[in-house]
Amino acid sequence: MDILLTGGTGLIGRALCARLLKSGHRLTVLSRHPERVATLCGDGVRALGSLKDWRSEQRFDAIINLAGAPIIDLPWSTGRQRTLWRSRITLTEELVEAIARADSKPEVLLSGSAIGYYGDSLDSPCSDSPGPAPCSPGTDFSARLCAAWEEAALAAETLGVRVCLLRTGLVLSRAGGLYARMRRPFSLGLGARLGDGQQWMSWIHIEDHLAAVELLLGDASLRGAFNLTAPTPVRNEIFTRLLAASLGRQARLIAPAAAIRLALGRRAFMLLGGQRILPNRLLDVGFAFRYPDLASALKELA
Ligand SMILES: NC(=O)c1ccc[n+]([C@@H]2O[C@H](COP(=O)([O-])OP(=O)(O)OC[C@H]3O[C@@H](n4cnc5c(N)ncnc54)[C@H](OP(=O)(O)O)[C@@H]3O)[C@@H](O)[C@H]2O)c1
Repeated sequence: MDILLTGGTGLIGRALCARLLKSGHRLTVLSRHPERVATLCGDGVRALGSLKDWRSEQRFDAIINLAGAPIIDLPWSTGRQRTLWRSRITLTEELVEAIARADSKPEVLLSGSAIGYYGDSLDSPCSDSPGPAPCSPGTDFSARLCAAWEEAALAAETLGVRVCLLRTGLVLSRAGGLYARMRRPFSLGLGARLGDGQQWMSWIHIEDHLAAVELLLGDASLRGAFNLTAPTPVRNEIFTRLLAASLGRQARLIAPAAAIRLALGRRAFMLLGGQRILPNRLLDVGFAFRYPDLASALKELA
């Protein structure tokens, strides 16, 4: 397939590029730094500096849309909220406009989202398939961001494009993100439970995330929202204990909720709240998780 990726230079994107190249796909990455694309994404990956450079006669079979400014790193000032919004919603709108201009439309758009879609502090399990207790979207800023991001991507359906939404959980990877940040303090014995540790953490090993993306890419019968999380979310106190154990340590410390609130302000709920997300749609189509439980995922990462 000829595939266009946005966010291909990011944590998930770089790993995805390596996997898709191995599977024989031809890749183009849209990046604000096109000169870095070959180094970050692999030899032979083409770079696109702007969607305006996408010539209408150039056909992509698929688009994978992962771009977005990091959400937890900086305080959500008005300016930062605008950056978070533009880098996801505006960019996705522009992507759909570019698809509309293309002479030949892609078959599929896989577009990023996050489990933040479901809001915060949910204690009962939350699935992506219609059931007795379907989960409704949250109302906080990050939930509204995800909902608008999804809506922008779904507009491509009116152009005859199959759209899958990747409601991604905490991606565990040695190369970056949550795991890489926690690894050092935990390996020094400085691991700490966050607040009362009762909040749920819905995680996924990066290898399973990539495999799920490949499944959604190739199976033309799949569309709509998918929770990309392992089937066994855990409470923060369990995550903390298992992470420490995987590094041969114990985690006896507690990061008090008040200190986290002081340090992170409005973003604190991303650590102190949580969601108990289940990937029912992936399981229903027979997706086999390589790392279905946290201990096996952490063992591989350690
Ligand atoms: N990692 C996780 O645990 C996780 C969990 C849930 C959801 N997600 C979502 O999945 C997507 C990919 O995650 P990731 O961890 O791979 O992200 P990442 O490492 O932060 O990379 C995201 C990419 O987005 C582009 N980007 C960053 N700031 C931008 C801006 N201001 N305007 C336009 N583009 C910008 C960058 O590409 P260029 O520099 O090449 O332009 C960057 O490589 C993100 O949208 C993220 O929100 C990730």
